Amino acid sequence: MNKVDCQLASEIVIFGALGDLSRRKLLTALYQLEVCDLLHADSRIIGVARQKYSLGEFKAIVLENICTFIKEDGDKVALARFTARLVYQQLEMKNVIAYKYLASTLSQGNNTRVYYFSTPPAIYGDICNGLNHASLITAADRVVMEKPIGQCLASSKVINDQVARFFTENQIFRIDHYLGKETVLNLLVLRFANALFTTNWDRNSIDHVQITVAESVGIEGRGSFYDEIGQMRDMIQSHLLQILSLLAMEPPANLSAENIRAEKLKVIKALSPIDRTNVKDKTVRGQYCDGFVKGIEVLGYLHEEDVNINSETETFVAIKAEIDNWRWSGVPFYLRTGKRMTTKHSEIVVHFKAQPHNIFRRSYSELPANKLIIRLQPDEGVELQMMNKIPGIDPQMYIQENKLDLSFSDTYQNGRVIDAYERLLLEVLNGNQSLFVSRNEVEAAWAWVDSIVDAWKSTNESPKPYVAGSWGPTSSAALIARDDRQWIE
Ligand SMILES: NC(=O)c1ccc[n+]([C@@H]2O[C@H](COP(=O)([O-])OP(=O)(O)OC[C@H]3O[C@@H](n4cnc5c(N)ncnc54)[C@H](OP(=O)(O)O)[C@@H]3O)[C@@H](O)[C@H]2O)c1
Repeated sequence: MNKVDCQLASEIVIFGALGDLSRRKLLTALYQLEVCDLLHADSRIIGVARQKYSLGEFKAIVLENICTFIKEDGDKVALARFTARLVYQQLEMKNVIAYKYLASTLSQGNNTRVYYFSTPPAIYGDICNGLNHASLITAADRVVMEKPIGQCLASSKVINDQVARFFTENQIFRIDHYLGKETVLNLLVLRFANALFTTNWDRNSIDHVQITVAESVGIEGRGSFYDEIGQMRDMIQSHLLQILSLLAMEPPANLSAENIRAEKLKVIKALSPIDRTNVKDKTVRGQYCDGFVKGIEVLGYLHEEDVNINSETETFVAIKAEIDNWRWSGVPFYLRTGKRMTTKHSEIVVHFKAQPHNIFRRSYSELPANKLIIRLQPDEGVELQMMNKIPGIDPQMYIQENKLDLSFSDTYQNGRVIDAYERLLLEVLNGNQSLFVSRNEVEAAWAWVDSIVDAWKSTNESPKPYVAGSWGPTSSAALIARDDRQWIE
């Protein structure tokens, strides 16, 4: 990362500073920006939470967390600089009157304030009311909102409206942390800096696309949150539709937030509707039962803590998505995501069309089509599968499928992998919205997802069981096999 001197000093106010996201990601990311000398000398970090802690106790918690999550002792000089920036404010976030205490903690100067809402979205409106009541909102301030925003289109509109009463759209940064991942950003470069792909990126050259985001973990103690929301609304509505829109969008005129977000929105709006008439053909929902993940026995979803024993919440989704436009007509995008799957593995596979005629039939009866594999995690990289002659002087020409493999860790040996939150927080400080999701995108994504969720409800079918440690229910393989294709595993 280049050294950038953020021009303005900021007050970064984290609501929910002692919650899981803040402890694991936000404070660690801010510390890493400190190590890289990317925080303005006069910037401060104000942790807001409900518990009563002294500043000393808060600093001790933050220090302990940073060392736990960076898995090393830390840079002593940077740690000292970082802890000197920390301020703690106890606050009952629903109590508007109490925000006067926050006002007395914040400096009255010209610093840009960044309000990071790392709390349940249900209280975003209360926080905005409190900030307004204490006259803590100016046109220069920014607000960062975590996903998922709402649980459906209607509830997301309520939350977006509550925040829009006090902040304009260009002050609002909606996080989808996948947009801060190196490999997801690299999609823009792959597509628009390589003529090879730019000119072959449509229905004429591409047969279909697979996007898989598989997790080996279960719900990790978040049962009460997850049982209400499920994999469709937690993963497809945000991460998978964002990846899909970056993959499928038209070339933006430039890298401005306005242009990139406008092109992504067109893709989401062009998704072919899935409703009760076609939901059985186009989707699969599953729920894990007892099994083994990497040799360790794990409980099924219904036995997880804080999950209703009769829960119908899906932990796996597969979808055949189609985009109704000129570029992608007839090209399916198969989406698949689940918990407690065989391994943690996220990748995009672009299957090009097969050669129309095979002149190597004597050695290879059916030529496999080229595949571009973009590995999001682990082992980030790009791989192009192509046919090659096996060296030798045999009268017959033997050929083989090989890969050109660009592993990021081997190619760019410059140490630490930058976490998505570091990049995204820096972009917030710099006021660049291109890696954040617009309100229109969020709402278009909810509209598409709501129709599927409603259709599932109307069928009254339970999610299909799958054994923990597998690649999902057998009907997921059947979904793609109906089109004479198979998942890459
Ligand atoms: N954790 C993740 O990996 C992750 C990933 C993506 C998105 N998110 C989103 O990030 C946000 C925070 O998630 P989290 O996992 O950090 O949640 P969490 O561990 O439950 O923390 C929530 C924080 O909000 C505070 N809070 C204030 N008023 C609250 C109220 N009325 N009810 C409940 N909590 C209240 C809590 O304060 P106290 O400390 O005083 O209880 C707590 O610090 C959520 O919107 C979530 O959807 C989280």
